[in-house]
Amino acid sequence: MNETAAVSLQGGAPSAAHNPFPILELIGLNKAFGEQLVLDSIDLKVRPGELVCVIGPSGSGKSTMLRCCNRLEEPSGGQVIVDGTDLMDRQTSIDRMRQKIGMVFQQFNLYPHYSALGNVALALRLVKKLSRSRAESLAFDALSRVGLADRAGHYPHQLSGGQQQRVGIARAIALDPKIVLFDEPTSALDPELVGSVLEVMRELRDIGMTMLVVTHEMAFARAVADRVVFMADGNIVEQGPPEQIFQAPLHERTRAFVEQRH
Ligand SMILES: Nc1ncnc2c1ncn2[C@@H]1O[C@H](COP(=O)(O)OP(=O)(O)OP(=O)(O)O)[C@@H](O)[C@H]1O
Ligand SMILES: [Mg+2]
Repeated sequence: MNETAAVSLQGGAPSAAHNPFPILELIGLNKAFGEQLVLDSIDLKVRPGELVCVIGPSGSGKSTMLRCCNRLEEPSGGQVIVDGTDLMDRQTSIDRMRQKIGMVFQQFNLYPHYSALGNVALALRLVKKLSRSRAESLAFDALSRVGLADRAGHYPHQLSGGQQQRVGIARAIALDPKIVLFDEPTSALDPELVGSVLEVMRELRDIGMTMLVVTHEMAFARAVADRVVFMADGNIVEQGPPEQIFQAPLHERTRAFVEQRH
């Protein structure tokens, strides 16, 4: 073994792919709406620092899976384990656990009568019960991180869609979550505004944020994801590194889907 390898084995941070302790783990996750089984025994792990992209046709269950991860949608069965705690356990405080799980939606859901700073600070005050001054200080830090320090005093209608979504991301990361879940964060944006949001997500990945991202942005998934999960009909058909999913998929359905999206 050479010296570099020995050092990295002893002291270096393990790469995300080999870290054995997932931040998020879904085990046998089921979800039915009435008679319709929408998630069929999903198993998925997201490890610290990983950016996992979920792709798949409309109606395949991507949003439902994401929403089950913080029980915005109530699973019908299975386990959802976040940072070692089972969300389905009756003893678990879901409010406390939700502080660990950031969520960024397709629609930004900002309060129109609060400034960018106000929107982010409000989340901190409500969720973390921080004082106004402490919340505003952390909110400003989060806005700076998404490149909006100079827009902190602007109201949502004074911001572009891309800037509003970056406020949404700032609101999620200000809470210092263990993982951030994104559901098609760029789908509501004009094409020219998509890049700025993806760039922020790329930067978050570079500072080690753990992210699970449902996206139709194949180029983004291909360039930035550590792993890509292809879903169809409530199942994970295939998952692997982007090179596998986009260049050498193991399943015919994956191949057909990515070909049609190119
Ligand atoms: N609240 C609900 N009640 C009944 N059925 C629902 C509900 N939410 C979702 N579904 C159904 O569950 C299935 C999966 O929906 P989901 O929104 O998770 O798909 P998706 O993969 O996110 O699709 P898209 O790419 O269009 O966003 C669909 O058949 C949908 O009609
Ligand atoms: Mg969806």
